[in-house]
Amino acid sequence: MLAERMSRISTSATLKVMVEAEKLRRQGVDVVDFGAGEPDFPTPEGAKNAAKAAIDQNFTKYTAAAGTTELKQAIAGRYKADYGVTFAENEIIATAGGKQALFNIAMVLYNAGDEVITHAPCWPTIVEQIKVVDAKPVIVQTRPEDGFAIHPEAIIGAITPRTKAVIINSPCNPTGAVISEEALGAIADACAKRGIWVVVDLCYESLIYDRIAHNLPKLLSERARDRMLLAGSASKAYAMTGWRCGWIVGPAQVISAANALQSHSTSNVASISQKAAEQALTGSQAPVKAMLDEYRVRRDTLFEWFSADPRFECVKPAGAFYLFPRITKAYEATGISNSIDFAQALLDEARVALTAGDAFEAPGFLRISYATSLDRLREGTTRMLEFVKKCERQGKAAAAR
Ligand SMILES: Cc1ncc(COP(=O)(O)O)c(C=O)c1O
Repeated sequence: MLAERMSRISTSATLKVMVEAEKLRRQGVDVVDFGAGEPDFPTPEGAKNAAKAAIDQNFTKYTAAAGTTELKQAIAGRYKADYGVTFAENEIIATAGGKQALFNIAMVLYNAGDEVITHAPCWPTIVEQIKVVDAKPVIVQTRPEDGFAIHPEAIIGAITPRTKAVIINSPCNPTGAVISEEALGAIADACAKRGIWVVVDLCYESLIYDRIAHNLPKLLSERARDRMLLAGSASKAYAMTGWRCGWIVGPAQVISAANALQSHSTSNVASISQKAAEQALTGSQAPVKAMLDEYRVRRDTLFEWFSADPRFECVKPAGAFYLFPRITKAYEATGISNSIDFAQALLDEARVALTAGDAFEAPGFLRISYATSLDRLREGTTRMLEFVKKCERQGKAAAAR
């Protein structure tokens, strides 16, 4: 009945836990939610007021499919201010979130059978979008032992004559790792030489905790300008996930193709959201800093709490808002031997909802979102650590019998 392409993609079975968690919550069960993929902060006042003004001024009609000139200028303005790079209006399209930015890129660039290289652990949508257009994801693993670093030689070594693009997500969901400029430079040079596209998902670019050189737009502009595509978003930086506003920045030819595609599918980002995003991008960036400061406290605290139990092997995230511990050392104590069952047991017995690493091409890990209050983080962490200890006590008691 369904088109063949639908057999290539999946709604991840590992997300089942989140659906069950929601059901439990509705029954009044106190579930600690470590599953959120979105900020727990409200959208900043300035953006909300701009949206209210847009409604009052009847700015409620179609706009150009690629977005208003003002929004595109606001996006260009941010790249100029943050990275010192200039982009023209015809090098920018506003999309319904970073998700549609990446989807448009997949649709306009990848042919059936093309190979697209990316790194894992990774955000599942990246892989599914490659598959939906019948291209082939080629996945290069990164490892906690070296902080989930992306090694350019591993990416370059995966290039074949069929490679169409390399997708880098930095900061990375779920690991929080950021790519070094040196590594991206080497990848960009190798791709530019071979005419391969470098797609960088920068949706968490505003959420980097420490002073790390991360001027990826400038680096790519200098070394692979005609082969670079940036996917950006207002979602995480400005706590605007529901407004659906993201963008692609890149060569005019690709932007024009994305515009053609979008004009026949979703058309423009909601006019009201465009006004809100424009304000968020051009107004004071103080709310971004305030949220980042709060996430940093949570990151440091959570990392310290979990590091107290060596069975949760943690890498301190450099960006985004997820801790991604490996839990294989907790298998023996708990008698559980995979991360899907582990996440399920945490929901059933500790009432903590989170996503198993399997959803991110990384079995043996758990993703803990710290887009929630310190109080809830403390409660959830206590429950998780206690769960492992309780299983261990029960196991020992059973063995002694
Ligand atoms: C790595 C990554 N890229 C892109 C997105 C897209 O977000 P949005 O479509 O809300 O901009 C997400 C959302 O979770 C993400 O985690």
